[in-house]
Amino acid sequence: MLRLDADHVLRLVQPGDGAALARAYTTNRDHLAPWEPVRSVDFYTATWQERHVEHSVADTDSGRGYRFVLVSDDGEIRGRMNLNNVVRGAFRSADLGYWIDASRLRRGLAGRGVAELIRFAGEELSLHRLQAATLLDNVASQRVLSSAGFTEIGLAPQYLHIAGEWRDHRLFQRILA
Ligand SMILES: CC(C)(COP(=O)(O)OP(=O)(O)OC[C@H]1O[C@@H](n2cnc3c(N)ncnc32)[C@H](O)[C@@H]1OP(=O)(O)O)[C@@H](O)C(=O)NCCC(=O)NCCS
Repeated sequence: MLRLDADHVLRLVQPGDGAALARAYTTNRDHLAPWEPVRSVDFYTATWQERHVEHSVADTDSGRGYRFVLVSDDGEIRGRMNLNNVVRGAFRSADLGYWIDASRLRRGLAGRGVAELIRFAGEELSLHRLQAATLLDNVASQRVLSSAGFTEIGLAPQYLHIAGEWRDHRLFQRILA
């Protein structure tokens, strides 16, 4: 567990987080809608989220993914930081994703969380590289990435299905070691 500021810690998602995740996604539904896939009604339930937590824990146990939650001191989840699609061999790479609660933006939480995931990926997972993708107009996320030392490596047409459409993305990478 890592303290990011006076009110928030970052830790791996764990069994029992489903209800808090359902509350966090419900609260942040409008905030996240432009940047995420269209979600099913079930997605916003504690049952669906708890099942996803089980998959996340299994992924971590097998080294395929590391999904973190940002927790405020009242126990509520205020954001997520994920390392997905961990690939070893000659690639040693993972995909980085994140979001921060709408009520806690512009306090440096994403910046500090991403810095910690960079440290974790390099020092504890021995990865070589992280990749992230943003919508062309996601200025906030692009700023987080460039502040964290990511560089743009290209444009990927129709890369992800976001808010109901296949959308072009800017791709960024950070070489770790
Ligand atoms: C992108 C996001 C995670 C940023 O979170 P945050 O905690 O507000 O970011 P920080 O406070 O750590 O800011 C990091 C940097 O980005 C800049 N920034 C943050 N929001 C910004 C905005 N809306 N416009 C311009 N710059 C912005 C900050 O000024 C800071 O710059 P600096 O390093 O030069 O000081 C948040 O806006 C969010 O959750 N967006 C919706 C989901 C999303 O887009 N996820 C990423 C998908 S690729």
